[in-house]
Amino acid sequence: MCGIIGITSTKQVSSTIINSLKKLEYRGYDSAGIATLYDGFINEVKCEGRVDSLEKNVSKINLLGNVGIGHVRWATHGKPNTVNAHPHSSETVSVVHNGIIENSTILKKFLVEKGYKFKSQTDTEVIVHLVTDYLKDNNLKDSILKMLKKLQGSFALGIIFKDQPDLIVGARRGSPLAVGYGPNENYLGSDSYALKSMTNKISYLDDGDFCIIKKDQVDFFDSKGNKINKKVLKLSSNEQNYEKGDYKHFMAKEIEEQPTTIKNCVNEYIDKINNEINILNFPWKKNEISSIKLIACGTAYHSCLIAKYWFEQLTLLDVEVDIASEFRYRRNRFKTDCLYIFVSQSGETADTYAALDLCNKHKMKTCSIVNVVESSIARDSKLVFPIHCGPEIGVASTKAFLGQMLVLYILCLKIGYLRKDLDKKKYNLKIKSLLSLSKLVSNSLSTENQIQSICNSFTKAKGAMFLGRGYSFPIALEGALKLKELAYIHAEGYPAGEMKHGPLALIEDGMPVVVIAPRDEYYKKTISNMQEVIARGAKVLLITNKSDEEIYSENIWEKIEIENTEEDLFPFLTTIPLQKLAYYSALKKGYDIDKPRNLAKSVTVE
Ligand code: AGP
Repeated sequence: MCGIIGITSTKQVSSTIINSLKKLEYRGYDSAGIATLYDGFINEVKCEGRVDSLEKNVSKINLLGNVGIGHVRWATHGKPNTVNAHPHSSETVSVVHNGIIENSTILKKFLVEKGYKFKSQTDTEVIVHLVTDYLKDNNLKDSILKMLKKLQGSFALGIIFKDQPDLIVGARRGSPLAVGYGPNENYLGSDSYALKSMTNKISYLDDGDFCIIKKDQVDFFDSKGNKINKKVLKLSSNEQNYEKGDYKHFMAKEIEEQPTTIKNCVNEYIDKINNEINILNFPWKKNEISSIKLIACGTAYHSCLIAKYWFEQLTLLDVEVDIASEFRYRRNRFKTDCLYIFVSQSGETADTYAALDLCNKHKMKTCSIVNVVESSIARDSKLVFPIHCGPEIGVASTKAFLGQMLVLYILCLKIGYLRKDLDKKKYNLKIKSLLSLSKLVSNSLSTENQIQSICNSFTKAKGAMFLGRGYSFPIALEGALKLKELAYIHAEGYPAGEMKHGPLALIEDGMPVVVIAPRDEYYKKTISNMQEVIARGAKVLLITNKSDEEIYSENIWEKIEIENTEEDLFPFLTTIPLQKLAYYSALKKGYDIDKPRNLAKSVTVE
C-alpha cells in the first residue's frame, strides 16, 4: 500500500520527510520519492527500491526547502521504476497519491489533446496536469475543487505549488489521510504511524474533504469548498499508552477500548464513500492463490481458527490453520499457490517468526497481520496488515484479538470478492455491516454487573468447560484460555458436538459450563448439547443473542444476551463477556491481572 508525507515548516524538511517515509515502509512498496519547494522551483528526487537509496540520492544534492512532500509507492498503474515513482511534477505542481483514479485514461486523452506531455504510465500524472491547467484561469481553491470534481475513484493526495511557497494541499476520498500539528510546522500523512514521530495531535480528513496546510495555519473544506472544523485528536503518545488512566488495570482499559480500536481499524480499511475495502496493493493475481494457511500462537491462533470458517463460507479457497510451534517442525508440503498468513500482536513471537522465516526460505507467498508494524514479523513479510489497536500492555490479549479477527474478516471479504467467490451485493452488504460493529461491541460491554455476580461460581470451581460449534468453538477455546491465564482455573474449550466422545465424563453436579450459542446455523445443535450437560448437573452460563424466541430448555443457570448482528460477526460480541468473566474471576482471586504468573507479553523464546 502507498504512503504519503507532507511537511510545511520554518525549518528544512527533507530529512524529516525521509525519516517519516521509513515509518511507512511496513505498508509494502517498490519505489520512493520526495519533492520540495526551494528558491521558486520544485525539486524532485525519486528512485526505485528502498527509502535508504532515496536518502542517499537526497543527501548527494543537499535538497533544500521548508515545504515538501514524500511518497512510498506500491505499483498499481505502471511498472515499479523511477519514472513511475511519486511525486509527479510539472513546472508548477507536484503531487503524491494513494489510491486509483478510475477515469485516468479519459482524463489523459483530454489533457494530451490540450498539449500536455506525460512522462509516466501512472494514473496519478493526470492530477498534475489537470491542476496545472486549472491554475491558469482559477485561484488555488477553485482549481482544487474543479480537479476533485473531475476525478473518479479513490485517492489521498498531497500537492505543492511553485507559486504557493508555504503551503501543501491535502485531499481525501476513500483512502485515509491525516493532518498533524507541530511547533511552527504542520504535517500531512497517510496514517497516524507516519505522523506520531513528529506529533501526537492529529485530525483525520473525511471522504470528500480537502485542506490547505501552512506552517502556522490549517484550513479544512468540504467537497463544496465550505470551510469546516475538524476535531484535533490526541494520539495516545508513548507515555499515555503506558498509563492506565482511570482504570485499575491495563486489561480493563484495553477491554473498554475495543469499540474505539474497532472503529479506528474500520476507518483505516473501509472506504465508506465507495463501500470498498482499501487493500489496493494485493500483489497476487486471482489464479496465483488456491489455498491459504494461517499460522499463529495462543489467542492469535484462535483468531485464525475463526477465520477458517469465514474463508470457507465466503471463498472457495482451501484453508488450513496451524500452531506455529508445530508448523515450524512439521514435514510441510510447501505450495507456491498457497498464501501463508502469520498473525501476531507483538510481531516478535519466536515460533511464529520461525514459521515465517521457514516460508521465506522456501520462497513462499507471505503476509502478516500485526499490531506492531516495526516488528520482525512485519519487516520480513511481503505484505503487512496492521490491526491499528495501539499498544496492548496486558499480557492477556483482548483488543488485539478483536483486531486480528477484524483484519482477517476484511481480508477474507476482499480476497473472496477479488476471486469473484463473493458477489458484489453480498460484499457490499458485509462491508456495510462492519460500519456498525463498533457500536455493537460497545453495547456488549454493558454485561459488567451480571458477570461480576456470576464469577464466584467459577473461582470456587475445580474446573470449567467452554462449549461452542462453528466459529463459537474457537471462542470457547479463547474463553477457556482467558480463564486459565488470568484466574489460574483449569478450563477446557471444546467443540460442543464432541462432548459425548469422552469429556462428558468430566461433568459433575455444580460444574460451571459456558455454552456459546448465538442463533446462527449451529444454534439448535448446540442447545441440545447444552441439555446433555445440564442433565448431568452442570451449571450452564449461556451466551446467546437477544431474541423474543423462547429457548427450549429449562434449568439454565445464567444467560447473557449479546446484540443481534450478521451471523459472521457474532464472534466479536460473544468474546466480550468471556474477557470480563476471566478479568473479574482473577480480580476476585487477587491475582496480578496485567502480568499473570509464568507468562510474558511477547514470547520471544521457543
Ligand atoms: C493470549 O492472551 C496470550 N497473551 C498469548 O496466547 C498470545 O496470544 C500468544 O503468545 C501470541 O502472541 P502474539 O500475538 O504476540 O504472537
